Amino acid sequence: MNDEILEKYQNAGQIAGSILRNGAKEIRIGVSYLELVESIETRVKEEGAGIAFPLNVSLNEDAAHDTASPGDLRVFAKGDVVKLDLGVEIDGYIADTATTVDLGNNSLLLQASEAALDAAIRAVRPGVTAGSLGSAVQEEIEKRGYRPIANLTGHGLDQYVLHRSPTIPNIGNMSGTVIEEGMVFAIEPFATTGSGHVGEKMRREIYSQISNKPVRIPTARQVMQSISGRNGLPFSRRWLSDRKQDIALPTLVRSGALHAYPVLADIPGSLVSQHEHTVIVTADGCIVTTR
Ligand code: CO
Repeated sequence: MNDEILEKYQNAGQIAGSILRNGAKEIRIGVSYLELVESIETRVKEEGAGIAFPLNVSLNEDAAHDTASPGDLRVFAKGDVVKLDLGVEIDGYIADTATTVDLGNNSLLLQASEAALDAAIRAVRPGVTAGSLGSAVQEEIEKRGYRPIANLTGHGLDQYVLHRSPTIPNIGNMSGTVIEEGMVFAIEPFATTGSGHVGEKMRREIYSQISNKPVRIPTARQVMQSISGRNGLPFSRRWLSDRKQDIALPTLVRSGALHAYPVLADIPGSLVSQHEHTVIVTADGCIVTTR
């Protein structure tokens, strides 16, 4: 990796880290979900950076992929476990980082995903396997009495690419993928009081473009035009300028032009915590860009 690219990853990481830490401090009982999301996304743009994906704010059993809908009326409530997952990009070089805010009495649950992330980061160096990082995650979470979410993983990053190899599991599986110097990836342990597996809910607020198929319906064409500058990175329904365009989204998913990201949730009534950092592998360890 050349110095110019390294600097972009590090700048994106610093912006993401500081905005996430400050944003987390603003989450309190009664605060508007929509206002929080919009103010954090605005701060990214004010820093001169791009939003790599809509700010994910996922509550309680929801692990990932929720964000504010247009006119969202939700407010944070007593007992909520709030995951904030922020993606910032500079010329497509991405920083992906997440934290959890507890509005109840779940400090051990939060500690589990945080300790798991720290342990995995300490284990990163060239030559170790992705599976061994998963073992570190699993051990920290299970020794506190929770389950890691087995079907959510950390992921490699590249320019305008949010998910590529290596996959970093949250359980000690047999993945023999060897970590190499220069790899860039996000590590994101999830700890849960539930089953340890997420499924898809009906709710869909986040989409990305996956093909350039021509579309004929005018509203669908407006959607594709308005997201053409995303370079394939995800966008939010909330970002569309005209609510009439909402109706085109399911059609565009069915035709293979867009991919939808349903909200991913563990069993009803469970609680999920998440912590995430982006790392760049060095000769003897890693740089954490988002800390
Ligand atoms: Co991530």
